[in-house]
Amino acid sequence: MAADCGIVVLISGNGSNLQALIDESGHRGYRVAGVVCNEPSAFGLRRAARAGIPAAVVEHGDYPERADFDRALLAAVEKFAPGLIVLAGFMRILGPAFIEASLGRMLNIHPSLLPAYPGMRTHARVLAAGEREHGATVHFVNEKLDGGPIVARSRLMVGEDDTADSLAARIRRLEHALYPRVVGWYAAGRLRLGRDGGVYLDGAKLPTTGVEASEVAASIRCRGVGEDTADAVNTSM
Ligand code: GRF
Repeated sequence: MAADCGIVVLISGNGSNLQALIDESGHRGYRVAGVVCNEPSAFGLRRAARAGIPAAVVEHGDYPERADFDRALLAAVEKFAPGLIVLAGFMRILGPAFIEASLGRMLNIHPSLLPAYPGMRTHARVLAAGEREHGATVHFVNEKLDGGPIVARSRLMVGEDDTADSLAARIRRLEHALYPRVVGWYAAGRLRLGRDGGVYLDGAKLPTTGVEASEVAASIRCRGVGEDTADAVNTSM
């Protein structure tokens, strides 16, 4: 992948992960080439405009047939000729044609420690189950909902006083640190989905639970190097 990898970010709402991806793009070796959104009123579109990033809106309501929506969405995405498609709070389920066309070049971020808690309302479910740990996961997207091969996870301890809202805020902070880094690995050609369905970082196959970002952060602190987690990953794998 070229050092100047263009990414397209798909959003439906607030776009705080989009913001983190924009803010970090300068020193992570990728550029946000475009934003595609299915909700015309999404705040994330204002973030894109503020950053001077072109955006396209494909309203799902305009397409009674899912396959037609998928086609229009894919056309909007491909106009930006992305090296990587980045789902960041995109709230529509993608159809098989879209996924097949994007296999190995589409990532998603999910607010749980996958494979635990796929789907919606993860924070409330984690609290109801009395879990001690919670987190965020970046994975390649395949046909299984929130079930694609895992690249990296970042975890936190659930506190006595945590609510679904406080967990949402804490998880967002993890996501904003994690997602641009993983996208940077891909942009640098270090990360790929293997033909065997495994995830490879610097040529080494990752465990099925991916990289543990907390270990990465710890090893960075120990080594006293800047922020480049990719180097630290190598030492911790
Ligand atoms: C994030 O929590 C992400 O994990 C999930 O949707 C949320 C998007 O938040 N997929 P934002 O729009 O980036 O603020």
